[in-house]
Amino acid sequence: MKNHLPESTASFWLETGQTNSYPALLENLKVDIAVVGGGIAGVLTAHALAEDGKNVALFEARELLHGTTGYTTAKLSAQHQLVYHQLLKRYGKERAKCFYQANMEGIDYIREIADDLDIDCGFRERDAYVYTEHADKKELFEKEAGAYEQLNISGAYVDELPLDLSVAAGIKMTQQAEFQPVTFLHGVLEKNPKLQDAVYEQTLVKELKENEDETLELTTEKGYTIQCNQAIFATHFPTFEIDRHYEDNMDPEISYALAYEAEDVSIHGMYISADDPKKTFRKMTYNEKEYLLVGGQSHRLGDDSSEQSRYEEIDQFAKKVFGVNDPIYRWSSHDMITKDRVPFIGQLDPNYSQVYTQTGFSKWGLADAATGAKVLTDLINGRANKYRDMYHPHRDVPELPEEEASSSEKNDTIEKLIYKASPKDLAPGEATIVDEGEENEFGVYKDTTGELHYLDLACTHVGCGVKWNTGDKTWDCPCHGSRFSATGRVIEGPAMEDLAIKNE
Ligand code: FES
Repeated sequence: MKNHLPESTASFWLETGQTNSYPALLENLKVDIAVVGGGIAGVLTAHALAEDGKNVALFEARELLHGTTGYTTAKLSAQHQLVYHQLLKRYGKERAKCFYQANMEGIDYIREIADDLDIDCGFRERDAYVYTEHADKKELFEKEAGAYEQLNISGAYVDELPLDLSVAAGIKMTQQAEFQPVTFLHGVLEKNPKLQDAVYEQTLVKELKENEDETLELTTEKGYTIQCNQAIFATHFPTFEIDRHYEDNMDPEISYALAYEAEDVSIHGMYISADDPKKTFRKMTYNEKEYLLVGGQSHRLGDDSSEQSRYEEIDQFAKKVFGVNDPIYRWSSHDMITKDRVPFIGQLDPNYSQVYTQTGFSKWGLADAATGAKVLTDLINGRANKYRDMYHPHRDVPELPEEEASSSEKNDTIEKLIYKASPKDLAPGEATIVDEGEENEFGVYKDTTGELHYLDLACTHVGCGVKWNTGDKTWDCPCHGSRFSATGRVIEGPAMEDLAIKNE
């Protein structure tokens, strides 16, 4: 089957959602609380704190909602694939139940905000399904369904899905939801009067200093200071990691999505497979037209897969199962995965009592981030919160027995990435890595005019070697998920600086 993928990456949510631009910070500022990171975690934390009467300001290094939030599958779900039997085994009934409740509360909080602020973001309640096409995974699904029963989760084991796809086993979870995250968050920023004049873009916070009186001073790339009592880093990876805790306890993954026009495709619900490669799909609506999102194929960043092949595999599946035409958008996202797949929300580091984080959403951050906003608001106010220990960034994570730890199968169908040896062989839009020995390795990208761009491959975060992403035409860092454009401009942190230009 022939693949005709869109030439470049663009997210359905950012292309169809409402957005606005905000000024950069061009003066020194004093606020109660600085929230750093303009995705759903940062926006909703700023919203919750402002609603609680705090003087808060939100800072985004580049454009709001252009990190993982804008490149999601936009499912509000407590299902998180097959997480509950593992949570039960690791932590016992009370905490596993807590995780379900936290996610359900997150969904409710988003619904409540959309209602209160009258945001038309397509919020719709849906059933969520996880399924497998492999009979040898039935036992695993039975275990997960048993966990649902023990935890009183609203859902059930199913033998078939309400669509034309034959599966070996599935689990339904009811009362989940879908929405348009970009339109929703744009609505929050525009309609909450307490956030007016408190939002800044193109404002990279580069330094964090604790003053003697325990207040904080943040310094931006342009040299302005933000004096505050508390700071929250709701960034992809904590920018100010102090003791390698986050580096040692999170791994970056990438996953992909394609959007199709789909007036004739009838699907109710949101679906994800627990197989490898993963598949996920749901319908979307824009301007009263119906679209289909098909995605998945997640894998560890930098594992030498061909990202382009991953997009092509998804496209083949979409055409075979749903009979759609060529996709109109394609995009990917980087996610940080924690060992127990529960995010890190709370005090960033035991030595900095006034600095907090929201990170490690393990690909399911939308509902967790909403609850996380309320957790941080409580922590900052010294109020009790029943999710505090579960999300604690420095919690102990008990190991699982090996047979429980991974249920994936090997996927050998994906083409492995082979870089061409010489820049002269490159077609416009391609890149290569040149290894001249003696640690002299560099990247070369040929742009559409034929100009060659030579780049130092050392990531500007802490120096890992970046890899060429053939699907999105970006340089991706396998260590903590930073992303750079083809010509080396930083587009996703924790890196703060562009890749160095290398002389030919
Ligand atoms: Fe940390 Fe690249 S993101 S070294």
